[in-house]
Amino acid sequence: MRLSRSFLPTLRETPKEAEIVSHRLMLRAGLVRQQSAGIYSWLPLGQKVLANIQRIVREEQNRAGAIEILMPTLQSADLWRESGRYEDYGKEMLRIEDRQEREMLYGPTNEEMVTDIFRSYVRSYKELPMNLYHIQWKFRDELRPRFGVMRGREFLMKDAYSFDIDEASARRAYNRMFVAYLRTFDRLGVKAIPMRADSGPIGGDATHEFIVLAATGESAVFLDKRALDTPVPGDDIDFYGDLTPIVSAWTEKYAATEEMHDKAAFEALPEENRVEARGIEVGQVFYFGTKYSEPMGAKVTGPDGVDHPVHMGSYGIGVSRLVAAIIEASHDESGIIWPESVAPYKVGLINLKVGDAATDLACDGLYERLTNAGIEVLYDDVEGRAGAKFATMDLIGLPWQLIVGPKGLASGEVEIKRRATGERESVSLDTAVAKLLGSS
Ligand SMILES: Nc1ncnc2c1ncn2[C@@H]1O[C@H](COP(=O)(O)OP(=O)(O)OP(=O)(O)O)[C@@H](O)[C@H]1O
Ligand SMILES: [Mg+2]
Repeated sequence: MRLSRSFLPTLRETPKEAEIVSHRLMLRAGLVRQQSAGIYSWLPLGQKVLANIQRIVREEQNRAGAIEILMPTLQSADLWRESGRYEDYGKEMLRIEDRQEREMLYGPTNEEMVTDIFRSYVRSYKELPMNLYHIQWKFRDELRPRFGVMRGREFLMKDAYSFDIDEASARRAYNRMFVAYLRTFDRLGVKAIPMRADSGPIGGDATHEFIVLAATGESAVFLDKRALDTPVPGDDIDFYGDLTPIVSAWTEKYAATEEMHDKAAFEALPEENRVEARGIEVGQVFYFGTKYSEPMGAKVTGPDGVDHPVHMGSYGIGVSRLVAAIIEASHDESGIIWPESVAPYKVGLINLKVGDAATDLACDGLYERLTNAGIEVLYDDVEGRAGAKFATMDLIGLPWQLIVGPKGLASGEVEIKRRATGERESVSLDTAVAKLLGSS
């Protein structure tokens, strides 16, 4: 993408309404624009990051055997009356009346709707296990929307729902999502630790929150330092094999949110292993048994010929919150440092002297070669001061910068800079291209 043809509204000043670094950087780098409290438009760079996160989330859900569907944002109140949650949910639920005076709501989550889909089609245990997921906007009228997309009112969530014939099988479904989450967050370039968590209004007895450590996180967390270097399974993992050793390796080490904190157990750890920190919840896995299937009549016939309510679990990932969480975990004083897997472009190509024939020619050539090789390049082809160009590239945080000016070109060289480390190297044009093609 040529900067001259793109829409990249960066801000020079730090917006004063933004209290935490990710919010400031998201506004300054032009990723989002607030439209109402907790409601955002996604601008081109932000939209690309959001799409990259969704792609990775989707790949790992599919790999773990979950099946993608898409449910609507608007739901009927009647469905929620069946589970008893229409009254319980309170003011966080945005309630809407249509022209026929039917009560509707903007979905804060989809347990009821997915249970309705399931009960309409599935009759036999032979069709199980089943896990249906979607990536869809949610609305929760949060009392205090804040920190930008970190706690929005409208936000993008991946939510999956598993259906099994009994508890043992539902626990295996839970473990598949648990492992998928380890892999997903690892690929997104963040260290998310599964922690024992309170099951809250959704109910149920088995749940973990996946939490990224960050000083600005809203939750206080307590963990065994060794949880931080527990290995994440590779892509050869067999999701239908025995996953309990992997799950146990994580759950055996102490890690809990404040609500579930067990002081005695924590203090039994050697002092040097006790970590007290703050964190951002980026995902949660729940097993809640027959909480919805029972009242809503989602039953299948078992091998015994008798109908059983299905055992369910739900599994959320905060897709839009992750954009902010990744930035909280990966930035410096100059701006964002995108992990390569989610970066909106891999390379920022900086033309230091737009209008100079040799520089333009070299830049155009590099842009074409890299683009043709399938690398996403943001090409700064706009006239401007070098200092301002560098500052903008650092702010938007692309993993690599390719800096091209008449001085270097005179000796056949360009500069290549790695955003994460600030390392710069002068190399020939061919070496620069080879380096960018070779790096993952
Ligand atoms: N208001 C919000 N804005 C952005 N993301 C959110 C918001 N609420 C929840 N999420 C994300 O959706 C995921 C799944 O939703 P879940 O129902 O578990 O949220 P939650 O536990 O109510 O979140 P929180 O405790 O942060 O309010 C969460 O792990 C979080 O990453
Ligand atoms: Mg949660």
